[in-house]
Amino acid sequence: MERTICCVDIGTSKICAVVAKVNRSGDIEVLGKSMKPCDCVKKGVIVDIDEASSIIKSCISEIRAIKNVQINSAYVNIMGAHVSIISNRSSVDTSTSNHEISQEDIERVLSRVEDLEFPKDRQIIDVVPRQYILDGCDEIVDPLGMTGMKLEVEADIIAGKITSVQNIIKSMKKADMEVEGIIVESLAIGELALTPQEKDIGVVLIDIGGGITNISVFKNKKIVFFDSLPVGGDHISNDISIGLRIPFNEAEKLKREYELALTSLIKNDHEITVNDVNDNKKKDIKVSEVVEIIEARVHEIFSLCKNVLDKNQVLDSFNGNVVLAGGGISYVDGNMQLAYEVFELPARVAYHKIPGISKPEFLTCVGTVRYVASRLKLSKNESETENKVSNKSRPKFAFLKKIYKFFTGLF
Ligand SMILES: Nc1ncnc2c1ncn2[C@@H]1O[C@H](COP(=O)(O)OP(=O)(O)OP(=O)(O)O)[C@@H](O)[C@H]1O
Ligand SMILES: [Mg+2]
Repeated sequence: MERTICCVDIGTSKICAVVAKVNRSGDIEVLGKSMKPCDCVKKGVIVDIDEASSIIKSCISEIRAIKNVQINSAYVNIMGAHVSIISNRSSVDTSTSNHEISQEDIERVLSRVEDLEFPKDRQIIDVVPRQYILDGCDEIVDPLGMTGMKLEVEADIIAGKITSVQNIIKSMKKADMEVEGIIVESLAIGELALTPQEKDIGVVLIDIGGGITNISVFKNKKIVFFDSLPVGGDHISNDISIGLRIPFNEAEKLKREYELALTSLIKNDHEITVNDVNDNKKKDIKVSEVVEIIEARVHEIFSLCKNVLDKNQVLDSFNGNVVLAGGGISYVDGNMQLAYEVFELPARVAYHKIPGISKPEFLTCVGTVRYVASRLKLSKNESETENKVSNKSRPKFAFLKKIYKFFTGLF
């Protein structure tokens, strides 16, 4: 059986969408992708729903036109700073006479685990089962069909800021798209670009986008910390623009042309002719002047991340590595050396092997496809469950009462 999954990533500098086919073994084939610049997100929140929806619509139309695929719904990402993750545990006695675990038992135990109090501005958007425990036997991934008297689940309950989530849903609805689920960006990237060993031993994921840097730490196979800082690749371009007194667009162009974050890596420090920001006249600058500014800002972003991690004592007795992701940092050579200098940990850049979609800006979208594919693979009887639901807009993970009400606007 194959599934078609659509994911939309609404970022500070761009909106992108990916439609992919996932087969039974979890192989992903990208059917279509589209990326368009946007200016409708500030500090991770959509501030212009009209613009967001029109860009989403145009991304989806572009994919539909190329591939002639039916796309009416999608999974959308939400950044880590707008969610809280709380671990909880619940249990039920099995309902059948032969004590074989049914889908209904699983749904009952999962809907109990969501009974938690969150701050008023938060609403549950997902429940991620970590392990099931059957009559004391733990680490069960899928208990369906097993036999036991008492079924327990340990799960991460994910709650999002209502304003962020509502703006995502409104923008999608206005683009005539249903939201099937809202996925935490770091979990999506973690699923795609971090190895199981890294997530077990410990790994710091630094995702530098256009306007936001997301810091997440995984250890013992789960996310243990996340935070975000309001800085990103656009601040690097802004520094170049201010520092060299050149227009922002020209600064952005120079950054993309040289793709360097370390002056020691410059091979030919030649002069470049640029426009002065005020005088409307040309002037000459050296490549090293551009790269010095990039190096200083990247160093500063890393140091700010390190401060956050130190303040929260995340790196105490930490033996893992750093993985860099996002368009703001993935392109510039010297990124790993700078990360090593600041974090004093080995560093690498995130990558994946899915063909035809290697640009760092697509990482969140492809990660979301991977994340959704693994979640759906786990809920084997999902189609059976879905048929019982009359509301077509019911999101795929919404077997839980609060999430269902939330996505359908009933809460
Ligand atoms: N070739 C390149 N060299 C250097 N930087 C680049 C290059 N291409 C893109 N970038 C930078 O990548 C950043 C955008 O990255 P990304 O698409 O990951 O961010 P986003 O998802 O839009 O934003 P955020 O995650 O902060 O909301 C921009 O700052 C852009 O300047
Ligand atoms: Mg992003």
